[in-house]
Amino acid sequence: MPPTRRIAPSILSADFARLGEQVQEVVDAGASVIHVDVMDGRFVPPITMGPLVVEALRGRFADVDLDVHLMIADPERQVEAFASAGASGITFHAEATAHVHRTLDLVREHGCRAGLAVNPATPLTVFEEVEVDLALLMTVNPGWGGQRFIPASLGRLERLRAIVGPDKEVEVDGGVDAQTAGPCADAGASLFVAGSAVFGAGSPGDALRTIAAATGAG
Ligand code: DX5
Ligand code: ZN
Repeated sequence: MPPTRRIAPSILSADFARLGEQVQEVVDAGASVIHVDVMDGRFVPPITMGPLVVEALRGRFADVDLDVHLMIADPERQVEAFASAGASGITFHAEATAHVHRTLDLVREHGCRAGLAVNPATPLTVFEEVEVDLALLMTVNPGWGGQRFIPASLGRLERLRAIVGPDKEVEVDGGVDAQTAGPCADAGASLFVAGSAVFGAGSPGDALRTIAAATGAG
């Protein structure tokens, strides 16, 4: 069965001083998955958040899918910490480790969905070599919210969908909004990260519903 299309609001663009309320707002609007962007100042320049944030969200939102996106070097070193904190899925970058296959196994051993992410210039062929639970296609260069969607991503998305087959979760991340979400859905995306388009809007709940409608998501 092809996965149900879902929007994953990224808290990177949320007001951290009101994080619980902001997440509550999008959950009330129908979000069942929250995207958590972890950056280490090495793989990408900024430093963002760690397992403590995942733990705090898990404490308040028992049923929400916490989709952790590791933009960190040597992600295998942090899998246990994020799994124990309550991550539902852990996605790491193919460019960030010499041990993609082993790290996918490690994530599954810790009871989480194992996701693999690729940057805009990275060949998709790695997805022919390993079995993932989720394939994440970066549609901007990782590191910051609010960037412009890279149009060439749509062709890559079609090729990625063809490689992983119709039933796999395929996530797009970066510059996804009410305009780009529809074309991404047509090209094969099933999970749509939206940061600034949701939390930068006057009403995150309304923005979420608008993007969901653009993808044909329930
Ligand atoms: C960027 C992060 C994204 C970011 C997306 O490196 O991986 O998840 O939050 O933000 P928007 O939706 O604003 O492009
Ligand atoms: Zn992300």
